[in-house]
Amino acid sequence: MTKEKQGMHRNLTNYGDPEFSLYLRKAFIKAMGYTEDALNRPVIGITNTYSGYNPCHANVPEIMEAAKRGVMLAGGLPVEFPTISLHESFAYPTSMFLRNLMAMETEEMMRAQPMDAVILIGGCDKTGPAQLMAAASVDIPAISVVTGPMLSGTHRGERIGACTDCRRFWADYRAGAIDAEEVEEITNNLVPSGGTCGVMGTASTIACMTEAMGMMLPGGATIPAVLADRLRHAEVAGGRAVALAAEKLTPAKIMTKEALANALRILLAIGGSTNGIVHLAAIAGRLGIGIDYPAFDAMGRETPVLIDLKPSGQYYMDDLHKAGGLAPILRELRPLLNLDCLTITGRTLGEEIDNLPKPYEQDVVRTFDSPIHSGGSIAVLGGNLAGNGAIIKQSASTKELLVHTGRAVVFDSVEDLSKRIDDPDLDVHENDVLVMRNAGPRGAPGMPEAGYIPIPKKLAQQGVKDMVRISDARMSGTAFGTIILHVSPEAAIGGPLALVKNGDSITLNVPDRLLILHVTEEELQRRRGQLIPAADTSTMRGYLRLFHEHVTQAEKGCDFDFLSANRIRETTP
Ligand code: FES
Repeated sequence: MTKEKQGMHRNLTNYGDPEFSLYLRKAFIKAMGYTEDALNRPVIGITNTYSGYNPCHANVPEIMEAAKRGVMLAGGLPVEFPTISLHESFAYPTSMFLRNLMAMETEEMMRAQPMDAVILIGGCDKTGPAQLMAAASVDIPAISVVTGPMLSGTHRGERIGACTDCRRFWADYRAGAIDAEEVEEITNNLVPSGGTCGVMGTASTIACMTEAMGMMLPGGATIPAVLADRLRHAEVAGGRAVALAAEKLTPAKIMTKEALANALRILLAIGGSTNGIVHLAAIAGRLGIGIDYPAFDAMGRETPVLIDLKPSGQYYMDDLHKAGGLAPILRELRPLLNLDCLTITGRTLGEEIDNLPKPYEQDVVRTFDSPIHSGGSIAVLGGNLAGNGAIIKQSASTKELLVHTGRAVVFDSVEDLSKRIDDPDLDVHENDVLVMRNAGPRGAPGMPEAGYIPIPKKLAQQGVKDMVRISDARMSGTAFGTIILHVSPEAAIGGPLALVKNGDSITLNVPDRLLILHVTEEELQRRRGQLIPAADTSTMRGYLRLFHEHVTQAEKGCDFDFLSANRIRETTP
C-alpha cells in the first residue's frame, strides 16, 4: 500500500517528474523565507475570506493570526490562502447565486494546494455552508471557525441590531411612521461592529448547526466577533487542526446522518433560519445523504423553540453568548440528540455535553418544559400548491394567520412585485394572499431572499402588519411574518405557483400542514398546457449558464447536480 503523502509532498503540480515538482515547489516557497524545518511540518491551510466588501468578515485578519499561532504552538506550518468572500449586501444578483461558486473554488483550492488539514474561516450567511460543502467533497481534516456575531446597537435609547430591526424600521418607514432622516440616522447604529448579523439569522443558525454537528470546537458558534474569546477560540482551533491532521479525522467521519440530524434538531430548537435547511440539504447531498422532509416535520413537532431571540423572540446574539451559547440548548435537548456522534474534538457529542460548564441562571434559553414556542419552528407543508414540500417558519408567523383562506394576488416576478406592490390602484385587501413566483433557483436566478414580500403600502399605512405570503424564493433568517417559502418545483420550470391566477382561492392550514389552491385538477391541467417553456440557456454564457443548467431545487439544497454525490445512500433525520 502506498503511504499517503504529507505536507509539501501532497498534491504536487504535474510536470511528469514528481521529484522535480517537489524541488521546484520548495525553491519557490523558500522565496517567502521558510526554512527546511518549517517546510517539513504538517501543513495547515487557512482560508482567507477577508474582503473590503464584507464587514461580517472584518475580523478575519485577527482570527487568522490567532489560528496561525495555534498551529505553530502545536508544531504545524500554517499557510493562508484566499478564497471568494460573500456578503449578503454585496453580491449581485444574490449571494445564493454565488454560494456554489465559492464552494467550488474552496473545494478546488483545497485539492490543488498541499495541506494536511484546513481551517475554514467563514461567517456571513453563504460562506460557512459553501466551506462545509467543499470540506464534505474533499474530505481532508477540516475545522470550522466563524467570525462571530456583531454586537447590538442603540437608536434613540432603544436596543437594535441587524437585521430583524432593519426590516422593522423599513416597514415603519413604508407605513409613514418614521421619516427618511431618521432612516439615515438608523444606518449609523444598526450594524455597530464587524461580525455577522446579531440575531438568529442564517449566519448564526449555520454557526450553531455547525457546532452541533461537530465540525466546530464547543462554544465557538456564539462568541461575538469583537471579543478576545473569539481569538482564543481561533488559537485553540489552530492547535486542534494539527492534531486532526495526525488523527486523519475527516469530515465524512463527523458529518454522518446522525450528526446532520443533530444539526436539524438544533435548527428547530433555536428557531433558526429557513435557509438552514437548504444549506444542510446541500452539505448532506455532497455526502450522499438526502433530507427526509416528513421526518424533519415530525422532528419539529417534538422540538420546542428554546431561545428567546429575534426574530422569534426578544434578545440578541450577544445575550445568547452571555447565557452560555449553545451549551444550555444542548443540555436541554440531550435526550433528543444522537450522543454517539464523533465531534472535531475526537470525543462524542455526549461526552462534550457531559463536560459542559455548570448551568447558571439566565432567561435567554428556556427549559424544555417552558419553551418560547412548541410544535416546531419550521413546518413542512403539503397540498397541491406546495409541490414537493414548501416550508413556513411558524414561530415567526402571526398565530391568527396560520389557518387562513384568502384570494390570490399574484406577482409574476421580483421586478413585477417591486413595480406594483405600492400602486394605490392595486386590487388588494388585508385578507388576501400575496403570491410571488419566478423567484426560485433558476427563475430569478439565485433564489433571492425576496420571500419577505412587503405589505402593500396602502395596507401598511392602515396598520396591516402581516399577511399570508407565498413564493418560490427564500427569506432572510432575520425576517418574520406568515410567509411560505421554497415552493418547489419553482414556477420557472412549471411548478405549482406558475398555475395560480389572480382571484383564485388559497387555504393555508399549518396545523394540518396544508397549502391548497382551490382549483379543479382539470382546470390546473388546462393551465399547465398554456405555460411558457423554461428559459433557453443557449443564449447565456459563463457561470450564469452553468447555474441555470445545473442548479437543483430547494429540497436538494440548490447545489449543482454534478457536485452532489452520485447517489443518495441514506436519509436524515
Ligand atoms: Fe452577513 Fe447578515 S449580512 S451575516
